[in-house]
Amino acid sequence: MNNPINDFHSPYRAVIAGHGSYIPEKILTNEELAEMVDTSDEWITTRTGIKKRHITNENESTAFLATEAAKKAIECANLNAQDIEIIIVATITPEMVFPSTASFVQLALKAEKAWCFDLAAACSGFVYGLSIAQQFIQSGRFKNALVIGAETLTKITDWKDRSSCILFGDGAGAVVLKRSEDGKRGIIYSTMHADGNSWEALNCQAYGSRYPSSKKLDDPQKIYMQIKGREVYQQAIRRIVETVNHCLDHCGLTIDDIKMLISHQMNARIIESAVKRLNLPDEKVFLNINEYGNTSAASVPIALDECARQGKIKRGDLIILVAFGAGLTWGANIIEF
Ligand code: ACO
Repeated sequence: MNNPINDFHSPYRAVIAGHGSYIPEKILTNEELAEMVDTSDEWITTRTGIKKRHITNENESTAFLATEAAKKAIECANLNAQDIEIIIVATITPEMVFPSTASFVQLALKAEKAWCFDLAAACSGFVYGLSIAQQFIQSGRFKNALVIGAETLTKITDWKDRSSCILFGDGAGAVVLKRSEDGKRGIIYSTMHADGNSWEALNCQAYGSRYPSSKKLDDPQKIYMQIKGREVYQQAIRRIVETVNHCLDHCGLTIDDIKMLISHQMNARIIESAVKRLNLPDEKVFLNINEYGNTSAASVPIALDECARQGKIKRGDLIILVAFGAGLTWGANIIEF
């Protein structure tokens, strides 16, 4: 591996010191969905790679999932919640309109030293969050940051719409980023992008300021997620390939240097098409969409946590996290794990 450039000219690196995830117990299989809408296990499996998804019960909220994932990440990092200085929760299914989901996580963890906020970048939320926390650490401002991706998408799912209800699941994943001064491991480079032109392709429109709860909705479907999957399918593949190639070029690396690509799990076919174009062999691509469906901002940290716990990546391996989602938003982090 060449010596990747250090964009921040910083003596510090933001190292993944701990990771964790939390998945609700309740499972909804494709066969069960086929009893609710006109679909089949065969259609869902061949079009998406999803076999089942985990869904929250009415007592499990986004902050609860986020807190449980965070506890595991903090323990894995051998830290206490009181060591955390900033908490970023990436989510599009927040606990409430306000205060932030992150406030509830800070309270539940008793992380009194931390300031905190939510970040709404849909499926790209976690990679966006890592990029922000990385900057606070590399600037020397903080030593320990907690970045969480947590979603309860099934609470904004229209269970009568077969084109969207088959796709989503609930869960949370988290990492602790720790400042290191040896320059050996950590996030090497992050690149983030957005294009508001296609916002209508993926959205949930009620109840913000455009469609407040005080006004009758012109379309009752606006309380649910709406997706025009076909419209973004090709764009998702193109953006993943372009972003990964940009990261490699920027850092003076080649695809052969990469041990594992951990993509947002939006559709197995999208990921498979992208990695084919990147010339990455299957064993260097982590897939767990069959078990969880698309969990938006939670999917990358859940996959990262599973990949590491299964021993598929070890300290020092070069990995790429990449995501694409509503906004549209997309981005990637290249990391010496
Ligand atoms: N079961 C059976 N048939 C179905 C189902 C279903 N669950 N859903 C749709 N169909 C039908 C359609 O009605 C259509 O029938 P028609 O040809 O008679 O009109 C046919 O199947 C094909 O529908 P498409 O929507 O074109 O199917 P496609 O192959 O594109 O797969 C999918 C749909 C899985 C949604 C895919 O387009 C996709 O994954 N897109 C990307 C989604 C994405 O980007 N997600 C990430 C962002 S999500 C976020 O940000 C929260």
